[in-house]
Amino acid sequence: MRSFIKGLSYYVPDEVLTNHFFEKYLDTSDEWITQRTGIKERRRAPKEVLTSDLGVAAAEKAIKQAGIDKAEIELVVCATATPDYLFPSTACIIGDKLGINGVPAFDIAAGCTGFIYGLAIADAFIRSGIYKTVLVVGAEELFKIMDMEDRSMCVLFGDGAGAAVVSVTEDDKGILGFKIHADGSYGDLLIMPARGVAVELTEDVIKKKLHFAKMKGNEVFKIAVREMGNVAAEVLSDLSISADNIDWVIPHQANIRIIQALAKRIGIPMDKVIVNLHKYGNTSAASIPIALGEALEEGKIKRGDMLLLVAFGAGLTWGAMVLKW
Ligand code: COA
Repeated sequence: MRSFIKGLSYYVPDEVLTNHFFEKYLDTSDEWITQRTGIKERRRAPKEVLTSDLGVAAAEKAIKQAGIDKAEIELVVCATATPDYLFPSTACIIGDKLGINGVPAFDIAAGCTGFIYGLAIADAFIRSGIYKTVLVVGAEELFKIMDMEDRSMCVLFGDGAGAAVVSVTEDDKGILGFKIHADGSYGDLLIMPARGVAVELTEDVIKKKLHFAKMKGNEVFKIAVREMGNVAAEVLSDLSISADNIDWVIPHQANIRIIQALAKRIGIPMDKVIVNLHKYGNTSAASIPIALGEALEEGKIKRGDMLLLVAFGAGLTWGAMVLKW
């Protein structure tokens, strides 16, 4: 018995912010952003639209694609770094908006690795026989935690959501294995200092912009390349699968240079790597399902293909998963 992705889809808001948007008011350029990150544009959600709304939009599409009735969902997991509230969880709000109250629901705070953590949780619940159908959502509104004057941050991220209906199968397909890790000693490299209980939200704190996300980009970059490579090698070796047998790598979409370095490290050519960060920027926990969803729409991924998902994010966290589609 295994778990497999029965339906997967994504949703991005309509508003497109190109690199030229930032050029108009910041000391930055389309050239710098393109060369250093690979990003050309990203989406921004309207003020009144919440992370849960993006999550519901993606979930509705995934549920339709899976061809299941909402009543079949037994657990809702939402990976997000930008929840509607500290509590209630965004997963509870998504469950309510989907009309499936009574079903257990919780959030995962694993930064950009959140979707892989979510799939891992779904896999564990399904393989243990506790649930047969789990909804995993990755949803983010990163613009709402961006200092729009901080050129080292606001050009990197975007809003969006993806969702997967994970179900049980007796076939030779689905999630073959995963490895997930965390190291909290790196926590301050990518952090939103205020809005939790650690730092009181005073006028001074707001003036210092501590309620916005902060990152030591250079340091995160180095650890990301090292650990994404390590964890990909770890899961492949665990499953005795060689990199040559991987048809598609779906990496977290943070920076094209990180993705290229990862591909080189694991010995997989870039034409087997799904890249769409030029269109959406870094959408954190939503980036893998958006990239996978788009690749499916484009007909790139076929039944039976071997997929390697790899991510890293705030925590720091990192993880990799192999699936037979
Ligand atoms: N436009 C123009 N210049 C910028 C800029 C921007 N948007 N952002 C930063 N710079 C400047 C810096 O101020 C610095 O100037 P200085 O040398 O005068 O101090 C210079 O560019 C180089 O900055 P640095 O941070 O060394 O650049 P980098 O090549 O490391 O690229 C990141 C910066 C953020 C793109 C890169 O480090 C990165 O992608 N890191 C990983 C971050 C990530 O993906 N995090 C998400 C985790 S899920």
